[in-house]
Amino acid sequence: MSDIFISREAVENQLNIASGLNKGGDKKVCILTFGCQQNEADSELLSGICERAGYGETDNPKDADLILINTCAIREHAELKALSRTGQFKKLKEQNKDLLIGVCGCMAEQKERRDALMKSYPYVDFVFGTDRLYMLPEIIRNAKSAKKRSIYISDLPHNEFGVIAEGLPIRRNSNHKAKVSIMYGCDNFCTYCVVPYVRGRERSRESCNILSEVKALVDGGYKDIMLLGQNVNSYKGDISFPELLKRAGSMDGEYFLRFMTSHPKDASDELFEVIRDVPNVAKQFHLPVQSGNNRVLSAMNRRYTREKYLEKALKIKSLVPGITMTTDIICGFPTETEEEFLETVDIIKQVEFDMIFTFLYSPRPGTPAAKMEDQIPHEEKVRRFELLSSVQNDIADKLNEKYIGKTVRVLCDSSEHGECSGRTSGNKIVNFEGKAMVGTFADVEITSAGAYILKGKEKDEK
Ligand code: 5AD
Ligand code: SF4
Repeated sequence: MSDIFISREAVENQLNIASGLNKGGDKKVCILTFGCQQNEADSELLSGICERAGYGETDNPKDADLILINTCAIREHAELKALSRTGQFKKLKEQNKDLLIGVCGCMAEQKERRDALMKSYPYVDFVFGTDRLYMLPEIIRNAKSAKKRSIYISDLPHNEFGVIAEGLPIRRNSNHKAKVSIMYGCDNFCTYCVVPYVRGRERSRESCNILSEVKALVDGGYKDIMLLGQNVNSYKGDISFPELLKRAGSMDGEYFLRFMTSHPKDASDELFEVIRDVPNVAKQFHLPVQSGNNRVLSAMNRRYTREKYLEKALKIKSLVPGITMTTDIICGFPTETEEEFLETVDIIKQVEFDMIFTFLYSPRPGTPAAKMEDQIPHEEKVRRFELLSSVQNDIADKLNEKYIGKTVRVLCDSSEHGECSGRTSGNKIVNFEGKAMVGTFADVEITSAGAYILKGKEKDEK
């Protein structure tokens, strides 16, 4: 197997190419990001590399000299959105022949999608895969000079590809919220999921690099830091994930340290204790259950049972009273019967999640579930989705009502004319009257609550 770490020289070589690309120019890049937080984090790296290459940032594709479309493949809907957006750039390319357009992210890793993109969107200049991100300077240079359309992709099979490139510049979207990738890829191969095929094998950054990035963020005034990975509990650096979380949460100062995503089979008591004991570690736990039925869980290759899930979910709730619990659910996995679905409804009621993210099952080419017989009709998926949503709304209403009259600590995300909005350690959205500045903490007394938003008034307002 090849070494996953890109050498310092190779990264520096790319950054040198970047520095020479637009000397003294006033070029602009527009980056469109679809999908998950990992893609958002990748886009901040792309933006950082572009900054080094002399590109300012713009939200408006019409003002851009370079457009990068960072795609998602998790569900068909996400793919269609990215394709339709890409289609809108045909006119811009006709008006400006020097405009460069690149497509990257998870769709770029799928051969059929890649080929279709190159064929149907002839104005796309280049396509690059998720592990070729660090090569962006070379990719831009080639596109500028050769005027030849190119594809940059690993030639290794999906269970072998994937790299780690340290030392890339980052241009972050926020001055108080930051994402820090701790690992990449996934080896779990849940039967419905495309991630292991498009993000490659599971690989972890070294803890010293992660911790120095977190330290720099805390020192730089960041107050909400999210450790990111497809499956953070199987982090395999030189220390365990709970230890990493503990160290990252024990730096001087007040901040929320969050993490995403946990796999139930790997969530340990040690992790629960760190959440309980380290004040800066946010009191929030996202634990995707996907289904509440053992046969479906097994068909999904989730490798835990309903009973084991319940045991862990109820344990963390009792260890950390008031913790915000959230989950992901797939509606209409192939072969799922009504009775099996009702066990999912039941698990929702038993755990009492603060919020659930519910998805209609979307067949992903190349995954085992897409080939299963007994695919569930769309209308039936929607019916199950709606039933789950209404059960969940009642639960969330009931849980949030308990906040009324209480005071919560809120990190302010927006503040205008006395109307502020922010999030608690548990990631609850709070809209409040007050004068808090963006990126600072406020104590807010909750006066009313709905299923998704708490409302209140800042205390000790001067
Ligand atoms: N169809 C629907 N939802 C999916 N997810 C992953 N793959 C699919 C799919 N093929 C959901 C899972 C996962 C979340 C990020 O997306 O619930 O936890
Ligand atoms: Fe996909 Fe399963 Fe990996 Fe999550 S754990 S990214 S659902 S394969």
